[in-house]
Amino acid sequence: MKRIIAIGGSNSKKSINKALATYVASQVENAEAIVADLNDFNLPLYGIDLETENGIPEDATRLNNLLESGDGLVISLAEHNGSYSTAFKNAYDWLSRINQKVWKNKPMFLMATSPGSRGGSSVLQTAKTGFPHLGGNIITDFSLPFFYDNFSEEGLKDVELKTSLTHKIRLFQEAI
Ligand SMILES: Cc1cc2nc3c(=O)[nH]c(=O)nc-3n(C[C@H](O)[C@H](O)[C@H](O)COP(=O)(O)O)c2cc1C
Repeated sequence: MKRIIAIGGSNSKKSINKALATYVASQVENAEAIVADLNDFNLPLYGIDLETENGIPEDATRLNNLLESGDGLVISLAEHNGSYSTAFKNAYDWLSRINQKVWKNKPMFLMATSPGSRGGSSVLQTAKTGFPHLGGNIITDFSLPFFYDNFSEEGLKDVELKTSLTHKIRLFQEAI
């Protein structure tokens, strides 16, 4: 049984990205989905002085170990002002201080969703460019626009999007 770590790049309790990542991870066959909720990791705002004085927070190491334990990563990024949410970037920065290969070359399904028409495509593009420099092995990516209209745990409501996502889940599954 493979182990998929699903992450929503947000600290919203009702995160739509966590919902999407959880759903997609659950669709991978013969795999167990473990959801890493950023709210469960107590990470102070990254600063070099804080790191020098106190070292790496225990919860950053715990998150790093969780990523290490996965056979594949499903990440869906929230877009805040065109970029990562503060909570995600903060976790990302702490992780990069433990291991420059943050994503450990594990097969990754990278996504973004938003309530609007662009589906988080700016943050998705940023991550597609940046993650490979930090051990990101992006197998496939997907942007879901108009989350509240399109998302359903019974499958996406838009047929074209549903077909595309199903195909991409298969690609990811083959890579893990
Ligand atoms: C500070 C802030 C900035 C945002 N900026 C964007 C943006 O640039 N593009 C976008 O599509 N949505 C933006 N949104 C809306 C988010 O996409 C929306 O809040 C979404 O639910 C975030 O995902 P989450 O539910 O996983 O946290 C922003 C929301 C906040 C609170």
